[in-house]
Amino acid sequence: MDGSADGRSASSRAGDGPGTRFSEERSAEVVAASFAGADDRLKRVLSSLVHHLHGFVKDVELTEREWELAIDFLTRTGQRSDDRRQEFILLSDVLGVSMLVETINHRTGGRSTESTVLGPFHMVASPPRALGDTIALDGRGTPCLVEGRVTGADGRPVPGARLDVWQANADGFYDVQQPGVQPELNLRGLFTADADGRYWFRSIVPRYYPIPDDGPVGELLAATGRHPYRPAHLHFIVSAPGYRPVTTHVFVADSQYLDSDAVFGVKDSLIRDVPEVDDPDRAAAAGLPNPFRCLTFDPVLLPEPAAD
Ligand code: BEZ
Ligand code: FE
Repeated sequence: MDGSADGRSASSRAGDGPGTRFSEERSAEVVAASFAGADDRLKRVLSSLVHHLHGFVKDVELTEREWELAIDFLTRTGQRSDDRRQEFILLSDVLGVSMLVETINHRTGGRSTESTVLGPFHMVASPPRALGDTIALDGRGTPCLVEGRVTGADGRPVPGARLDVWQANADGFYDVQQPGVQPELNLRGLFTADADGRYWFRSIVPRYYPIPDDGPVGELLAATGRHPYRPAHLHFIVSAPGYRPVTTHVFVADSQYLDSDAVFGVKDSLIRDVPEVDDPDRAAAAGLPNPFRCLTFDPVLLPEPAAD
């Protein structure tokens, strides 16, 4: 013991010694060296973070006023968050970080359905519904049959696959954004595919809508001339025992904002036409007026990685 309060020798304390003194030139190395006591992963993550952060500050020669503005912005981002709203995730979304993390962690190699962001509106459990049910409890919007077949990458059906779906209403709001206006659990459903991996249910053609833009993230969008809109989409989480679950959307092919999604969630492989179908027999069987719109989406799942 060298008699220091924490019991570590003076020379082992990060930052000690003339060679580790802070300077503009060596700032990142000096701070990164202070993480010597962390485990390997934490050391790597923090060291990289500090190198990029310091590189950024040097690159733009951040002024003290800008630093204060940034601290204020982040403080308000935290203050705007609670158990119903997560402004930090929204910030991550509009900076493309959520999509990058999602994409890195769910690489498909083109073999399965691509993933996209979960979004903040999957905050209630979707109610189990029978195949063919409607999820449009408010009876508004353009009726649409949603159908498809869940398969593995080998093309074989996945019987009993679960499809958790949710979408915004005809005005572009989720049920949880309009309590007392929309029926509870409007436009949500948990479906179980049949023995052939097939599923079908009734909904409405989704509509584009704005992400919540009445907080700091909205200020950022406005200050940079960006709009808050997401193109029309229907959310899916598709899962089955033995397969990796996929969190994704299906985007409507002719929707506005496909090329400028506020959260960068669009992938070409997820865009589908929603054609009008003129078939009185099929309409009657589905319980829809004729003609009706039809969205077909065939999710492809990858097997769970084999356990070691
Ligand atoms: C959504 O699609 O529900 C969503 C995703 C990211 C931010 C806001 C909304
Ligand atoms: Fe959404």
